[in-house]
Amino acid sequence: MILSPSLLSCDFARLAEELAALEAAGLTWAHLDVMDGRFVPNITFGPPVIKAMRKTSKLFFDTHLMIEEPGRYVDEFARAGADLICVHAEADRHLERTCAAIAQAGCKPAVALNPATPLDAVRYLLPQLHMVLIMSVNPGFGGQSFIPFCLDKVRELKAMIAAAGAPTLIQVDGGVTLDNCADLVAAGADVLVSGSAFFGHPPYAERLRRFRERCGA
Ligand code: DX5
Ligand code: ZN
Repeated sequence: MILSPSLLSCDFARLAEELAALEAAGLTWAHLDVMDGRFVPNITFGPPVIKAMRKTSKLFFDTHLMIEEPGRYVDEFARAGADLICVHAEADRHLERTCAAIAQAGCKPAVALNPATPLDAVRYLLPQLHMVLIMSVNPGFGGQSFIPFCLDKVRELKAMIAAAGAPTLIQVDGGVTLDNCADLVAAGADVLVSGSAFFGHPPYAERLRRFRERCGA
């Protein structure tokens, strides 16, 4: 199990210190929530902030683009220092082309699906995807409650990936807590995003240890 803390819930005034604290605590990924105020109601940050963070951190930047027409910005996010670029199937009419462009730019391609979006949206792309993100809340804000049917969706995606013989990872994002993380890992999740259930609960090494202990991974 990889835990990818969502910086949306960290202290934005102390980004460099937060990143350093994550690294020191043994975390390897950081989940960066980019929001444009169009695909989702909220606005967060973009390439200039990621570029600044890149200078201070070696963490794997798991970049979740909640923006319309993400294909237009792939190169900019790659240049800013994203390691993985995850785009929403609902936001892109030419998903295959965008995923190919992400790989071409030297980043790992991933696709996110909103809770109500069927898994078929990624079926044919699995061999070229590093990861599929199952949104377990409607994106836009941290601190929302996990939507229960998403657990079945993770199970179904796991079976679809196995049938395809693809190495694709499954990430779950939204409302992940110490109480549901074990069920998610049992259902097939490889990467768990946690915002509000992670930040605000220091020390981070202890928080990571508790997630691992609960998941048995
Ligand atoms: C939601 C974001 C998530 C969110 C997770 O739109 O994509 O990454 O910040 O936060 P929690 O864990 O609080 O649901
Ligand atoms: Zn996210």
